[in-house]
Amino acid sequence: MRVDVLGAGIVGLTVGEELARRGHDVAVVDPQPAGGASYAAAGMLCPAAEVWHGEEELLRLGVASLGLWPALAARLGVALRRSGTLLVGYDAGDLQQVERQAALLHRHGHPVELLGRAGVRSAEPTLARVAGGALLPSEASVDPRAVCDALLDRVVLRGAPRPDAEVTVVATGSSLPEPWSGLVSGVRGEILRLRSDDPPRRTVRGWVGGEAVYLVPRGDGRVVLGATSEAHAAPPVVTAGGALRLLAAARALWPALDRAELVEGTARDRPATVDGLPLVGPSGVDGVVLAAGHYRHGVLLAPLTAQLVADHLDTGRVDPVLDPRRTMQGAR
Ligand code: GLY
Repeated sequence: MRVDVLGAGIVGLTVGEELARRGHDVAVVDPQPAGGASYAAAGMLCPAAEVWHGEEELLRLGVASLGLWPALAARLGVALRRSGTLLVGYDAGDLQQVERQAALLHRHGHPVELLGRAGVRSAEPTLARVAGGALLPSEASVDPRAVCDALLDRVVLRGAPRPDAEVTVVATGSSLPEPWSGLVSGVRGEILRLRSDDPPRRTVRGWVGGEAVYLVPRGDGRVVLGATSEAHAAPPVVTAGGALRLLAAARALWPALDRAELVEGTARDRPATVDGLPLVGPSGVDGVVLAAGHYRHGVLLAPLTAQLVADHLDTGRVDPVLDPRRTMQGAR
């Protein structure tokens, strides 16, 4: 089939690569390739660390997609860091959050190992004294910019959709075209990039006085520190207050932050849906398929989304949990 993919973020590019691999004639259309949320993303492949009560479906989807990442990373020649995630609670109240999350994961049979103060210290000697934590050994991370660069080398990029395209896949993140624009809304994320001679070894997802923060090391001194989360109508910018909150929370966990070079601040909107689940499948308009609304999970869910979109085009199959028509009144 002749397929145009609108949007060259990590979701659109991964969809484009998968469709091309399956023999479709694919063009990816974007005036600013890889410049949206994928440019800001830390690259956490963390289905468990990023899940919360009521999001169990996301855990299932995330675990399935994490399982597809090793093959995708190998195909693209990008590094996949499989060092796990350390959840940490700075004080006793924060540790309760970690313990509730660990209990949720345990109930779903997900591997999680609770650690006391000393256990956290030996897992991550660079961290400050914290109340405790939990290790999620199966989690990983990638550098989304490296992934997008590798994908851009493998897809055909065009400036405009083709008039003779048989199918259009809409993967334009937080700004969907009409009539779907109301299905997603932007949730601002501000994120900082640092360079350190004493980085953590693995992804650290922490609570500090009720404030959520994460550190994602690349293994070469680069560390990504994220992220704020606010619904906003204004254009995304890094605010002084956002940076201050991130730095203060991260410093409480990781004292070496003081000596780190502050390299970059980035802000982008995450594409949120009403029920927190992506929109992958029929759009309600013939020949148009959505691959959108991935909110906090675009990098993690990209390979699963690519597989689902390609399966849908090849066989007509739709995952009912992700079917976009669930959010459109009267569209089924
Ligand atoms: N998945 C990380 C974030 O959205 O901040």
